[in-house]
Amino acid sequence: RDRQPIVAIDGPAGVGKSTVSRSVARELGLVYLDTGAMYRALTWLVLESGISVTDRCAIAELANRCEIQLAASLDAAQPVRVWINNREVTSAIRSLEVTANVSAIAAIPEVRHVLVKQQQQWGQKGGLVAEGRDIGTQVFPDADLKIFLTASVQERAKRRQQDFLAQGQPQVSLEQLERDIAARDWQDSNREVAPLKKAAGAVEIITDGKSITQVIAEIVSQYDRVFARTDQRG
Ligand code: CDP
Ligand code: CDP
Repeated sequence: RDRQPIVAIDGPAGVGKSTVSRSVARELGLVYLDTGAMYRALTWLVLESGISVTDRCAIAELANRCEIQLAASLDAAQPVRVWINNREVTSAIRSLEVTANVSAIAAIPEVRHVLVKQQQQWGQKGGLVAEGRDIGTQVFPDADLKIFLTASVQERAKRRQQDFLAQGQPQVSLEQLERDIAARDWQDSNREVAPLKKAAGAVEIITDGKSITQVIAEIVSQYDRVFARTDQRG
C-alpha cells in the first residue's frame, strides 16, 4: 500500500474519542485529525453570520466557500487549534450554543460532502488517527484499524460534568447533560447521510469503568496486532 497507516476512531458524544485519539496518535507517531472540530467551526460560522440553522441553501453555500485549518499540538494537554476563514475559534466552538446546533448542521448532506472531501484530501498520504462519527464507514473505509468506542449515556454525562468542573466552567446538571447527549446520539444515529454506526470490521471497545490509559493501551495493542509490531515496543 502506498500510504502511511490510518486509524479510524468513531463513537457517540463524550465517549472519549478526542482524549484517546490524540494520545494514540502521539504514541504511534501519527497526526491527529478531529473532524468534529470542523463541523463545530462551520456551526460557529453559521451562528456568527446570523444565518438560520434551518436555511440549508445558505449553509451549503457557506460550507462551499469556507476555509478551515486545524493544528494539533504535540502536547496532548493543549486543545486542537481551529481557524475558520482565518479567525481563530478554538474555544468558541466548544460553547453550549455551538454544541446544541452542531448535529443539525452536520446532518445537511452538502455540508458533509464538502467536509468529508477535505478530510480525505488531508488523509491522502495516510499517517493519521482520525476521529468522528463516520470515519470508518465513509471518510476512510479502507482504514487499517477501525475502533468503535461506546459508553452508557450516564457515564458520558458524568465525564462531561467532570470536564466542566476541571475547566472552571459553570456547572450543568447531570440530567441536563444526559438529555443533551441522548438528543445528539439520536440525531447522529438517525440522520439520512452517514449516520453514526459501527463500521464493518471495527473493533468495539466498551469504555464504562475503564481508564483513559486502559483504552489507549487496548487501541495500541490492536494496532500492533494489525501491523504485527509487538516486538518493537515494550
Ligand atoms: O466531542 P463531541 O463528541 O461532543 O462532539 P464532536 O466530536 O466535536 O462532534 C460534534 C458533532 O459533529 C457531533 O455531534 C456530530 O453531529 C458531528 N460530527 C459528525 O457528524 N461527523 C463527524 N465525523 C464528526 C462530528
Ligand atoms: O471526543 P469525545 O466527545 O468522544 O470525548 P472527549 O471530549 O474526549 O471527552 C471524554 C471525557 O471523558 C474526558 O474528560 C476524558 O478525560 C474522560 N474519559 C475518557 O475519555 N475515557 C475514559 N475511559 C474515561 C474518562
